[in-house]
Amino acid sequence: MKKISLTGIKPTGDLHIGNYFGAIKPALELANEYDARYFIADYHALNTMKDPKELNSTIRQVAAGWLASGLDPEKVIFYRQSSIPEVFELTTMLMAFTAKGLMNRAHAYKAAIGENQSKGDDTDAGINMGLFTYPVLMAADIIIFDSDVVPVGKDQEQHIEMAQDIAQSINANYKQQVLKIPQAAVQENVAVVPGLDGRKMSKSYGNVIPLFATEKILRKTVMRIVTNSQSVEEPKNPDESQIFQLYKLFTNKEEQDALASRFRNGGMGWGEAKEELFRVINRCLSPMRERYEAIMADIPALDKILEQGAQKARPIAAATVKRFRKAAGVD
Ligand code: TRP
Repeated sequence: MKKISLTGIKPTGDLHIGNYFGAIKPALELANEYDARYFIADYHALNTMKDPKELNSTIRQVAAGWLASGLDPEKVIFYRQSSIPEVFELTTMLMAFTAKGLMNRAHAYKAAIGENQSKGDDTDAGINMGLFTYPVLMAADIIIFDSDVVPVGKDQEQHIEMAQDIAQSINANYKQQVLKIPQAAVQENVAVVPGLDGRKMSKSYGNVIPLFATEKILRKTVMRIVTNSQSVEEPKNPDESQIFQLYKLFTNKEEQDALASRFRNGGMGWGEAKEELFRVINRCLSPMRERYEAIMADIPALDKILEQGAQKARPIAAATVKRFRKAAGVD
């Protein structure tokens, strides 16, 4: 039997090419090796997103984005967290085994407290119980599907350790393997994608190249890439240019070598280099954009895909809860 991998996707809008190369693409590749499960963590998002219209549309945008990027709902299980009520039942059960002190140590919670203190605000200002118990819900997401591995960025490693802690204390209490202990697969060597200004591409820096923008906006965005004041004639170092770093993500070795030597020989200005970059980005993104637009044009069909995924997921989730209830004497 194949091992199970599970990827939780926070629905934050406006996917960009940093998300694609840093998270979406490597996560989709797991489907070759694992029995892969992907879900939209919409109740996690509720902690911070209180505008119903925004949350509702972001959920669809992110789901459509993953489908347009190649997620095959026939091959993997793809669902919304909120469609699996068993996750919340398990969350309640996990709470009984989660030390409050463990939650006090969560990085995200500590950062929120620290920020309040440095502003001189009340320690708990703006902190809801959803934020405080975030790691428990995440542990339930993972544990309920008997996940073997959870591919995550470094920032999520602590959450996996907490899921392990909670599951281990349950197994220890009942002196049997009620729950599977998940392992983190920390993605170390995924591409760091530079943004328009050369810093890491990130929504918070406002330096992103959107994944599904129109061709016109894509072109405009690429033209905004920050360059130095070297003239057209001057030879340029490809390794010092984010244009070339971005180009590498979309091209094969032959194309990369060709552009690198044009940089080094001089005679290619930044404007022309950006045109060339736009061409290869658009070549890759056009078919994805078309798929994305087609999916977004039929939301009922998208919802049906997610609902079918939930139907595949629920019996697995129910079996875990049943096992736990039996072990706990709540059967
Ligand atoms: N916390 C994750 C993030 O911010 C999202 C997430 C929620 C998740 N539940 C999960 C990731 C379960 C992996 C497994 O990206």
